[in-house]
Amino acid sequence: MTTQALLQVEEEIDGLADIIRSEGCRSLLEIGSKFGGSLDRLARAMPVGSTVVSVDLPGGTRLWEQSRKSLMQTVDGLIKDGYNARIIWGDSTDPNVIERVKALGPFDAVFIDANHTMPFLEKDWANYGPMGRIVAFHDIAWHRAPEWVGTRIDAPQFWDRIKQDYAHREFKLCPTGKNNGIGVLWRS
Ligand SMILES: C[S@@+](CC[C@H](N)C(=O)[O-])C[C@H]1O[C@@H](n2cnc3c(N)ncnc32)[C@H](O)[C@@H]1O
Repeated sequence: MTTQALLQVEEEIDGLADIIRSEGCRSLLEIGSKFGGSLDRLARAMPVGSTVVSVDLPGGTRLWEQSRKSLMQTVDGLIKDGYNARIIWGDSTDPNVIERVKALGPFDAVFIDANHTMPFLEKDWANYGPMGRIVAFHDIAWHRAPEWVGTRIDAPQFWDRIKQDYAHREFKLCPTGKNNGIGVLWRS
């Protein structure tokens, strides 16, 4: 059962989990896991014994102390239940991190949900996209609300640019219409 804080619209992440299940995925890479909510949900859409790799940035958010513990508990829980799961701590754009991930790939599914600004989206797609058969992005339906004071989110523009070249599906089910959204594309 998922108990970790899940930073997703339930129906959207379930849509991606359904794809992972129906495509028979046996390996998952998540870039940006925070508390581990989506990692747990997506990992458990695969059979026990599947490979699960999370990349997350130490100190990456204000809630790092809580999210670090929660993500470690998530991965420990997956290992206890028979998954081949691990965390690679570091910046996803660090060449050393990329090499360590590459050594564990390729992956049936890659979920990119880390830094949502254009330079990072471009790098994560360039570095990790080729490692995945199915690649998904979060926040493709994000719109800037007047009250928003957080970091810029460029996922919608980025997604609209790359999706044209691939078979793809979109889940845009946020009740506010302002947030979230998951885009999934098939590289092969
Ligand atoms: C939106 S949260 C992930 C939420 C998670 N996927 C979920 O839905 O439950 C983004 C996470 O990405 C991490 N992050 C941000 N920039 C990163 C980077 N350059 N490399 C790795 N992780 C990064 C943050 O620290 C944070 O934990």
